[in-house]
Amino acid sequence: MIKVAIIGLGNISRLHIQAYIKFPERCKIVALVDIDLKKTQAYNDEFNLQAKLFSDLQTLIDREKVDLVSICTPPFTHKDITITCLKAGIHVLCEKPMASSLAECDEMLAAQKVSGALLSIVSNNRFRTPIMALKRILDSEVAGPVVHAQADSFWWRGLVYYDLWWRGTWEKEGGGCTLNHGVHHIDLFQWMMGMPASVSSVIVNLMHSNAEVEDYSLAIFNYSSGSIGTVSCSVVHHGEEQKMIFQCEKARISFPWNVYASDSMPNGFPVKNKALEKQLNELYSAFPPLEHEMHEGQIDDVLKAIQNGTSPLVDGTEGRKTLELISAIYQSGVSNSPVQFPMTKDQPFYTREGILKNAIRFHRKTGATEFKASPGVV
Ligand SMILES: NC(=O)c1ccc[n+]([C@@H]2O[C@H](COP(=O)([O-])OP(=O)(O)OC[C@H]3O[C@@H](n4cnc5c(N)ncnc54)[C@H](O)[C@@H]3O)[C@@H](O)[C@H]2O)c1
Repeated sequence: MIKVAIIGLGNISRLHIQAYIKFPERCKIVALVDIDLKKTQAYNDEFNLQAKLFSDLQTLIDREKVDLVSICTPPFTHKDITITCLKAGIHVLCEKPMASSLAECDEMLAAQKVSGALLSIVSNNRFRTPIMALKRILDSEVAGPVVHAQADSFWWRGLVYYDLWWRGTWEKEGGGCTLNHGVHHIDLFQWMMGMPASVSSVIVNLMHSNAEVEDYSLAIFNYSSGSIGTVSCSVVHHGEEQKMIFQCEKARISFPWNVYASDSMPNGFPVKNKALEKQLNELYSAFPPLEHEMHEGQIDDVLKAIQNGTSPLVDGTEGRKTLELISAIYQSGVSNSPVQFPMTKDQPFYTREGILKNAIRFHRKTGATEFKASPGVV
């Protein structure tokens, strides 16, 4: 039986708790930790967990035998909490974003190597049937290699969203919509496309006059294959129409699923390739639905990895790649020049100190409230 502790009992911890209790034969939540003990009590009562409650991590480690922690605290705390747990030999599932900088990711990966315990970074969107099916079909190259890829990570958040005490600052949130909302699509993008050769980007704050950070970014990725990717991240888009579209040599495929395949007429104008569209649609429909989706799917994956001694789908190295793309988007947006991959340690957006020194403060952060957002959303 895998003994689990949840650290940080705010908004997203609910999804972790709901997922763990779906697997009662494999794991048990034995402890809850939050600097605000009232929050641990509330979740303990609501889910009848009968867990031990702690207001600090070290006391948990000293007093309780725990095999796995879910870290559900704000981003600026992820590095220290992860390293403390790994040093104590505890497996870690850490919420996105992995950390506030690549240097912090490197420290986490080094701690993971020494400890031998598992480190997984939350990427709940990989664990969705349509996304897994899209990835499988892209990898099959039935539609041909990708020529152009597009991800629109469009969300909408009102001004007060940035009044939560840790949001809206480079110091505590670590960035704006690119880091905290776009992270989902950027992770999927790098999973499907691999790492690019370079990126050029624009970052702006269009509407959130109470936040230091960006509320919109547009990045153009160049790949060594010659293909191009564009990623837009936003919290100013009404309707939140999120999508990923892959223009492959023979067809367009996307999330949400849609296919369009063109053949060339003798004069170069398009004619539909209905046979290929049928083949791609059949491949998509034949993909078996995942038994567990989103956080539940990822927690199932982590439990399996612990039980079988294998790697989780999203390990620390994968989490770091996503943060490297985001760090480069910020550096390019601030410097107005392309950034090459891999980023090197001497680059301004490699360290937290460098980010804090170089980031653009679009506006002054004003609010400092504590409120509950809608469950399950970023
Ligand atoms: N995967 C997703 O879809 C998703 C969705 C929402 C949030 N998140 C991520 O989850 C994390 C938490 O976000 P949230 O919206 O739940 O925030 P939140 O503010 O609702 O909850 C954070 C909790 O952590 C506690 N905390 C802060 N510092 C702590 C420490 N040092 N030790 C113990 N507890 C501490 C706070 O008291 C609070 O209860 C962030 O990294 C966020 O980006 C992910």
